[in-house]
Amino acid sequence: MAVWSPLRFNCGRETANRFAIAPLTTDASNEDGTAAEDEIEFVRRRSASGFGATISSATYVAQDGRSWQGIGAAHQGHLSSLHRLAEAMRAAGGLAILQIYDGGRIARPDLIGEHSMRAPSAVASLRPGARTPRAMTSDEVDSLIASFRDAASLARAASFDGVEIHGANHYAVHQFFSPRANHRADHWGGTLAKRMNFPLAVAEAVRDALGPKLIVGYRVTPFEAEADGYTLEDAKLLCNELSRLNLDYISISLDDYRKIRPQRETRVYHGPLETNNIPAENPVTALARVIAGRSAVMASGGVGTCRDAEGAIELGADLVAVGRAVVVDPEWLAKVRSKNEATILAGLPKDEREVAAALSIPPRMVEYLLSRPGWIPRL
Ligand SMILES: Cc1cc2nc3c(=O)[nH]c(=O)nc-3n(C[C@H](O)[C@H](O)[C@H](O)COP(=O)(O)O)c2cc1C
Repeated sequence: MAVWSPLRFNCGRETANRFAIAPLTTDASNEDGTAAEDEIEFVRRRSASGFGATISSATYVAQDGRSWQGIGAAHQGHLSSLHRLAEAMRAAGGLAILQIYDGGRIARPDLIGEHSMRAPSAVASLRPGARTPRAMTSDEVDSLIASFRDAASLARAASFDGVEIHGANHYAVHQFFSPRANHRADHWGGTLAKRMNFPLAVAEAVRDALGPKLIVGYRVTPFEAEADGYTLEDAKLLCNELSRLNLDYISISLDDYRKIRPQRETRVYHGPLETNNIPAENPVTALARVIAGRSAVMASGGVGTCRDAEGAIELGADLVAVGRAVVVDPEWLAKVRSKNEATILAGLPKDEREVAAALSIPPRMVEYLLSRPGWIPRL
């Protein structure tokens, strides 16, 4: 069965099966950006169930780009914490991949302190209460690319098998590609081709830091929902350019991989939605066709059973990333593998006190999960 077969990436590293733990922010790290004991345990227990790869929570590359109280790869002081995390992620011998990000205009003001919020352009996001950032100078853009490069070097020193660039979900790399967030008129914006320059420069810098033998992945949002956002056609062009850079995989971020056009999502704040005749095309199939085997394709969103994973592979994915199902049931993969899907936990227990201890979820992560009604199923 394809889902249990190994996959060799371009760089030569191999995953034992097609299941990865999706990047899952805990919002529960130590204030200095080191991993807290309970979040290391959260990861260790889930990785131990046999995932071919575990992708870390989004890890900040610059102090003034933090969107949660998460882990950092911003200076040498983070190295030993990253090392411990990589070891926990390899609990069952799977690959350990560090996801790196910058928050740009959706950095959290209470976390970035006295730093001013900077982004591609001085355009606020649609989140309620969002602040208007200031536009980065071209030196600051160069310096942010260098921060991604340095974070990748730290990941390498910390023994990670690779790095995933967070180019999705409206964080800074996504913002540079988005015509809604990027109104620049220099090398970094103005035309679709120029809006690709930052994502491509980050991918090149990360590959350069890691060398040819470690994994470089890139996570992309396949379309924006708004009429003035980027389309699946635009994302195809970006994925084509990324594929020329010998990436190991491109991960397609959706809340349901079966989605064939933008829809309103609970966790994103929308402007007027695009309603014009958008062709109904599955983004996994469309992007896999463009990538054409030059990089592996990872799908995510709504995988809760083995059949769901097989469905994503039939649509063109090589791998699937599993998020909420593995938050709710740390032994999810073991149950899938032993064909005990009937015993998979369907939601978080009603009593919140039970959640942290029984499921190894950091208490502050429980608060974070419950802060968005409907995000995580409850029993
Ligand atoms: C608690 C939580 C934290 C998340 N943190 C991240 C993150 O750090 N980086 C990221 O790219 N996606 C993040 N996501 C999105 C997931 O990786 C995944 O794409 C999404 O939950 C859809 O997959 P699922 O239906 O299997 O949960 C997070 C999701 C959840 C539920």
